[in-house]
Amino acid sequence: MSHPDAPAYLTEVAVDPTDVEIVVWYLWSHEPPPEAVEELITPSGVVVLRAGARDAGHTESMAAKLRPRWVPRVVQLAQRTVRRAADRWKLGAATVRVGGIDVRPSWIDRDRRGQAAGAIEVVLDTTNAFGIGSHPTTQMLLAMLQRAGLQGAEVLDLGCGTGVLAIAAAKLGARSVVAIDIDLEAVATASANVLRNGVDDIVTVSSTPLERITGTFDLIAANLSAGALASLATPMLTRARPGGALLLSGVLADQEEEVLGAFAGCRVLDRAEGDGWVALTLRCP
Ligand SMILES: C[S@@+](CC[C@H](N)C(=O)[O-])C[C@H]1O[C@@H](n2cnc3c(N)ncnc32)[C@H](O)[C@@H]1O
Repeated sequence: MSHPDAPAYLTEVAVDPTDVEIVVWYLWSHEPPPEAVEELITPSGVVVLRAGARDAGHTESMAAKLRPRWVPRVVQLAQRTVRRAADRWKLGAATVRVGGIDVRPSWIDRDRRGQAAGAIEVVLDTTNAFGIGSHPTTQMLLAMLQRAGLQGAEVLDLGCGTGVLAIAAAKLGARSVVAIDIDLEAVATASANVLRNGVDDIVTVSSTPLERITGTFDLIAANLSAGALASLATPMLTRARPGGALLLSGVLADQEEEVLGAFAGCRVLDRAEGDGWVALTLRCP
């Protein structure tokens, strides 16, 4: 819940640490100046700056000062109004329920009557990062995570997007979750979502390539494409503990054999199909 005195309008921008000083200067030198500037250092090192504004015009003109070098977002806190044309798709978004997990877009108010008793809630914001739980490939992995038994598990989320799977895994009892993505915007988005969901003590988000991830995991979840899964099979298998689980999604039905071929030696433990997509839980040798 926001503080009653907190500004209703914000200009929010994710920046590299080296850009913090210059962006803060740009914001404070805006006329009129911001009401306040908040710095949120995400676990990945990306810094989210939030400048409080008086009204919609103020936040928009601060954002304009940062463009095109940075990609600021304009946020109205009070009514969760979507202000950027690029964010119009958000108007059609809805809370998605998968088993005992509700994935709720942060700009949609929680419907307490619709909340199942004991349901886990994952609250997500995003501009471009995939996804908010609406895609069948994500939904099948959310269902499989619930069937996998995550209590105390060490998890790797490969291609975390908004962080939806990583956050769900943490809330399902995982001891630690390493979430990685090659897209820096996804890293910033997931980092903010991890904080939003209060699981930053469990989930670390970064752009570290899979090949540089050290250690092994009880469970690796990857919602990529069939081609990406096949090409990453070896580095994934070397990071999976013996008897560990690989949760794979993003596979079209006619690509299943190709993916299974790349993970030769693994046994299919769980399989789901929806809208022409297949998701698999494999037991590693
Ligand atoms: C389909 S989205 C899945 C997002 C989220 N995990 C979900 O299930 O909704 C795939 C994500 O994987 C990322 N990605 C693609 N190839 C990758 C790689 N080799 N290493 C890490 N991330 C990768 C993309 O940037 C994208 O954010």
